[in-house]
Parts: sequence; C-alpha cells; structure tokens
Amino acid sequence: MQIPTVLVVDDEQLIRWSLSDRLTQEGYRVLQAETAADAVARHEEGGVDLVLLDYRLPDGDGLGVLKKIKERDPDTLVILLTAYSSVDAAVEAMKQGAYHYANKPFNLDDIASLVEKALETTRLRRELRELRASQAQPYSLDRIVGSSPAMATVKALLQKVAASPASTVLLTGESGTGKDLAAKVIHYSSDRAGRPFMNITCSALPETLLESELFGHERGAFTDARQQKRGLFETADGGTVFLDEIGETVPGLQAKLLRILEDKTFKRVGGAADIRVDVRVIAATNRNLEEEVRRGRFREDLYYRLNVLPIVLPPLRAREEDIPLLVNYYVDGFNTEFKKRVRGVSGDAMRRLQGYGWPGNIRELRNAVERAMLLTERDTLATEDFPLASGGVRLGEGVELPAGGIDLEQLERSLVVQALERSGWNQTRAAALLGVNRDQIRYRIEKFRLEKARHG
Ligand SMILES: Nc1ncnc2c1ncn2[C@@H]1O[C@H](COP(=O)(O)OP(=O)(O)OP(=O)(O)O)[C@@H](O)[C@H]1O
Ligand SMILES: [Mg+2]
Repeated sequence: MQIPTVLVVDDEQLIRWSLSDRLTQEGYRVLQAETAADAVARHEEGGVDLVLLDYRLPDGDGLGVLKKIKERDPDTLVILLTAYSSVDAAVEAMKQGAYHYANKPFNLDDIASLVEKALETTRLRRELRELRASQAQPYSLDRIVGSSPAMATVKALLQKVAASPASTVLLTGESGTGKDLAAKVIHYSSDRAGRPFMNITCSALPETLLESELFGHERGAFTDARQQKRGLFETADGGTVFLDEIGETVPGLQAKLLRILEDKTFKRVGGAADIRVDVRVIAATNRNLEEEVRRGRFREDLYYRLNVLPIVLPPLRAREEDIPLLVNYYVDGFNTEFKKRVRGVSGDAMRRLQGYGWPGNIRELRNAVERAMLLTERDTLATEDFPLASGGVRLGEGVELPAGGIDLEQLERSLVVQALERSGWNQTRAAALLGVNRDQIRYRIEKFRLEKARHG
C-alpha cells in the first residue's frame, strides 16, 4: 500500500495543527478540513484512507459526515472525536460504522496508535480481498462458458463434486474441451482452495523421473539423489493433485497410484516408511480408458477406482449453441488484451463457425478468434477473418477409413440428412455445413429422394 492518507476534520486550528504535526511525523500524508461540507468534499475527491472527525462542526455534526463518507466508500475508516464523553454520540457513531471514537482532550500517543491499528486493519482487509480476487476468481464456475444442456449438466456436476469430499475424479474428453480448466475449477471452488493445486502431465517425463516427482525420494535412492526430496503428493497435502494424461502411465506406476487412491499412503522412492496424505486426485485423459483396459494397457482395478466419479467434457461440435457465447467471450477478452474495439462477429461468419467441426475444440476456437482479432481491420469480424472455417468443412484427424471399408454413398446420404436436420431443413445452412452450394445440396436431396416429413 502507498503512504496512507489521513483527513483531519476539526474547526479548531490548534487541534488540526497538533494532529497533523504528529501524524506527519508518523509518516502519513495528512489533509485538513474545517467544516462538514469541506470534509465531505475532500473525501469525495478520493484517496482518503482514514478520517479523524470532530463531532461538533460549525455547519453540522460529525454523524452526518460519517454517514456520507460511509455511503461513498464503506472502506474509509472513521475515528470520531467527541468533546465530552457523550455515550450516546459514541454509540451512534459505532452503529453508523465508525471504527472507533476518542474523547477530547486526547493524548496524541493514543491517537497515533489508534490510527496505526486502524490502518493495519484496512491494509490486511485489502490484501485479503486482492488475494482472493486474484486466486479464486479466475477459476470460479463462471469461468466455464456454455449454457447448452450438456454444459449445464457438466457445470452442475463440477459444483457438486467440488463441494463433496470425493477423493477421486476422472475427467475425460477430447483435446481442448476444458479438462485442465475443469480441474482448476473443482479445486478453487472447494474448501481445498487455500491449499496447493499440483499439476503434472504424466506423459511428459520418463517413468523413473515421474515416480520421484510424484512420491519424492530419499537421499541416495539413486545416483543423483544427493538430498531427500518431497514429492508432489506430499506438497499437495490438504489440496489437489491433477494427473493429466493418466492414460499414458505405465503399469508399474499405475499400481502405485492405485495404492495411494485406496489407502492414501505411499513410500518415497528408496524409502521404507509409509507416508500418509490427504489429497484429492483429479485424473484426466483424452484416451478411451475402457478401450485401453481392453487392450491390456491400463489396469482394470485402477480404471474402476478412478471411474467412480467420471465427468465427460463434451466436444464443441456436440454443443453448437455454445459457440456464439464462446466467440463473444473471447472477442471481449482479446479486446481488452489487444486494446481493440471489435464489436463482434457477423451473422454470416457466426453461422460458419457454428457449422464447423472444431476438431481442436475450444482451444482451436480460441486460437481462431485470437488470430482474427490480431489481423482484422474491421470492427465486426467477417467470414474472411476466419480462414479455417471459411474454406468449407475441414475434417478432423479423427476420420479414418475403417479396415473393413465403408459405403461412401450411404455415408454421404447420412451426412446430408444430418446437415438438413441440424439446420431445420434450411438448404442454405445445410449447404454451409457441408461446404457445398445450394445447387449441390438440392441435387443430393433429389438423388437420395430425401423428404422433410420422413427425415426431418
Ligand atoms: N467451457 C469453457 N469456457 C471457456 N474457456 C474454455 C472452456 N473450456 C476450455 N476453455 C479454454 O480452452 C482452452 C483449452 O482448454 P484445456 O486446456 O482445459 O483443455 P484440455 O481438455 O485440458 O485439453 P488437452 O487434452 O489438449 O490437454 C483453454 O484456454 C481453456 O481456458
Ligand atoms: Mg489439458
């Protein structure tokens, strides 16, 4: 906090002078006012942390001033100075939100220490508020944008899980669907928020290193272990461990993870003692774990242990109605970040964005908006600002010809039907969804003899 500012309000010059003199010596910035009107005006200019307020003023009483000050800024501290020990005035002042009162004649030492204590309180209160705002806010539930039924379900579940004592959560979903974000939301909306959130990507490290990162090691456990080291699980005690890409862990490590999930205990690498911790484990993967189990790459018992509370983050293409929300959310964000004034996205461009498949999900959408905002000269983003989506539908890497082959005609027919259904049989929109023009879609409607009644 900068140098605190104290406003001294009294009509007697001698009192103003002695208080100002003393408080200046204490290192405060001191302002003065002689009347009630003066005091209110000075406070309205802002920047006042504390007011020493005389009860009797030539143009009114201190209580009136106190009320106005508190209305404008409840954080300003007020100490009321009363000429005679008027209990009523003091009681009333405290009721109106005064920090304290002092009787005249006062002792300058007492006033100085009262002021110091009061300012310490505001400093702490402000710091706490800033801390809360900077820590918890970015990962509150509102940070998850989306009002589609699918996302509403996910959000409700995240909130329930955060508030519950559940010790394991499994987040699944394609890349870029928000697993990382969901894990942080769970942690920071829970009563573990004040404790560490430790995050590790299981595929990023070789097995032995990962093990010592997670569980720590004793001195001499291996060649480089010159010192004992605490692992992630110990550091996170009371908080949350987020194991990202759990599907990539090897069986040996999976067994140790199972143990910690079941008994809450583990051993440091090279250690004999069991260490007990209280952590919530959130695991995430974009693999199909059931499939991994079937192929013998993931322990079945660990899968069942993790799968007690599964939360599936839906791909963006399955919740088209969230796309405008997300686009506008990112336009707002990048306006602030890039100091731009883009007003939004044209209707045409938005329809294209909604029709696009988004194989990279929200991450890809965010990048597309970022790129558009950086390059555009327009104040409303147009189709041309989104080269990804404007060239027609780009199929994701996920499309692969099955070993047994497919029936291309049937696939085409199915896609056309889907596009028509999704657009409510609006041929222009259906055409946009398929990256063709209206004539081409009409041709296919005839070719496949599609009718709204039967297929819509
Ligand atoms: N519902 C949402 N609302 C707003 N932003 C979101 C949402 N979901 C994801 N994001 C943002 O999209 C980006 C990608 O999300 P995140 O990193 O959480 O995905 P992920 O599922 O962990 O992906 P990966 O599997 O590739 O690790 C991040 O910038 C994240 O903040
Ligand atoms: Mg991730």
